[in-house]
Amino acid sequence: MRKIGLVIVAIIFAASGGLAQAEGPGDPTAVKKEDDGKWLDKEGNPTYKISADGTVDWFTYSGYRRYHSDCHVCHGPDGMGSTYAPALKDSVKSMSYGDFLGVVASGRKNISTAAENVMPAFGDNPNVACYMDDLYVYLRARSTDAWGRQRPAKKEEKTEAYTKAEDACMGKK
Ligand code: HEC
Repeated sequence: MRKIGLVIVAIIFAASGGLAQAEGPGDPTAVKKEDDGKWLDKEGNPTYKISADGTVDWFTYSGYRRYHSDCHVCHGPDGMGSTYAPALKDSVKSMSYGDFLGVVASGRKNISTAAENVMPAFGDNPNVACYMDDLYVYLRARSTDAWGRQRPAKKEEKTEAYTKAEDACMGKK
């Protein structure tokens, strides 16, 4: 299952034109909800849905947790960046969804400066690879300030479809 996920990542990445493109994801308005609780924008890219009372969709919540377990050491809390790695809250403004998946799966080594800051490849790490959309949705919500620097307190329920896909991806029965 994980391999299939990676192939899909590679296809999306290739379709997006690789790293050459510097175009953001556009209008983040959620128009459609998938069975697993994931919201999509009008282009079909994953996006967030935050209600007036502060209830976040499951992916935003899950992405918050995954970000703070696997990314914040380098990228700073809440996507704010650090001296070592860029603020992802800003990065996703000018990156397509496909570019995001590509960099996270394959990693990147900064060759533009003397410093050798390395973005590790997470494609083979199920704790990240199985939660790509969660991470993206959370960071997209941060990029528009739809979600602030706090931990989401109220969230939509985790769906059965999400749990099924998660277990399959993580190799559980
Ligand atoms: C060991 C430190 C480290 C960790 C952990 C890390 N990153 Fe990175 N990341 C970097 C560095 C350094 C760069 C900049 C690389 C470059 O300039 O080529 C980067 C770049 C990126 C970029 C491209 C940003 C841009 O503006 O082009 C994305 C997207 C990204 N990381 C996502 C993530 C996500 C999501 C996680 C958690 C799953 C994560 N990173 C974990 C160090 C890290």
